[in-house]
Amino acid sequence: MSIEFRPQIQDLVAYKPGKPIDDVKKEYGLDRVIKLASNENPLGCSENANNAIQDALSHLHIYPDGNSTNLKAAIADKFNIKPSQILPSSGSDEMVDQISKTFIQEGDEVIMADITFPRYISTCKMMGGIPVIVPLLNHTYDLAGMKEKITDKTRMIWLCNPNNPTGTMFTTDILEDFLASVPKDIVIIYDEAYREFVTRKDYPQNSLRYLEKYPNLIVMRTFSKAYGLAALRVGFTIASEEIIDHINRIRGPFNVNTLAQVAAIAALDDDAFIEKIYSVNKEGKEFFYHNFDELGLEYAPSETNHVLVDVKRDAQEIFVELQKRGVIVRPIYGTFIRVSVGTMEENTIFVNNLKDVL
Ligand SMILES: Cc1ncc(COP(=O)(O)O)c(C=O)c1O
Repeated sequence: MSIEFRPQIQDLVAYKPGKPIDDVKKEYGLDRVIKLASNENPLGCSENANNAIQDALSHLHIYPDGNSTNLKAAIADKFNIKPSQILPSSGSDEMVDQISKTFIQEGDEVIMADITFPRYISTCKMMGGIPVIVPLLNHTYDLAGMKEKITDKTRMIWLCNPNNPTGTMFTTDILEDFLASVPKDIVIIYDEAYREFVTRKDYPQNSLRYLEKYPNLIVMRTFSKAYGLAALRVGFTIASEEIIDHINRIRGPFNVNTLAQVAAIAALDDDAFIEKIYSVNKEGKEFFYHNFDELGLEYAPSETNHVLVDVKRDAQEIFVELQKRGVIVRPIYGTFIRVSVGTMEENTIFVNNLKDVL
């Protein structure tokens, strides 16, 4: 007799994180390695968050507040919504998993783009759902194409705006048309992990205003990117009270740790930090574009903190060559790599090494 595993997880592949900086240093005998591979914040996080963590360090023996009460209150206050419509999570990664567990039954169809954030598809398969893939058009979400794929088996639709890894966005008009045309029994999840970096005016800056009209909408945000708290694992989701109540039933009792809660509250208050990272990021992207143009490389103009660029050579090969020179980026597919925006010094090191490699 042998143990049995659920068939739904048989062909899933474990997430492969990039090599840690220290391993790359050791492997290639390098003193300095820069990582522009995970869309992290090159400025760190708000000093307020650091201070809040220091203060909380004396409470590590106490369980976190399982309700994240103060964090919910801070988010509610900042965005003018009810605490009962908010659910903090251990990064939005955890929320992708919880949303899939809350809604997907065997055989349900889940519409998603390709390429987009990979956890949408893996959690769908994990639940026995059927991913319905709609390719990007010109590196951008094809919402009309997604609408065409709706059947009476469609349970959920994942939207990522702006998108990872392409950095592209769709406009307020396109989102509003889409929301209005999707049947109300289909759950639409709107992942805004990179919203703070968007520069275009036609981006739906205030997605929360759609929640009242569309009770089938779930909005996901994270503290990992612009707020620079990736290591702490904290994000939050906003939806109707009914949806939040149901997701909350399957949540682990202490899913957001104490340091994450206090740091997120402090970070929310520091608008100056967000303004600074916005400018540093915008300047970094313009620097990349200028250099890619000079090198004759095509790229997707990005509304995030990363740029997808066609290096016209095998992406894996370029990735290895850059790594040997102390720069970690992310090979995406074919000849495309994704590079996160760093400090100007890091951006310059990347560009110089890319020129060298090419
Ligand atoms: C689009 C998108 N959603 C969600 C996440 C998960 O972020 P976190 O779990 O750190 O909040 C990421 C991380 O890269 C992302 O790119």
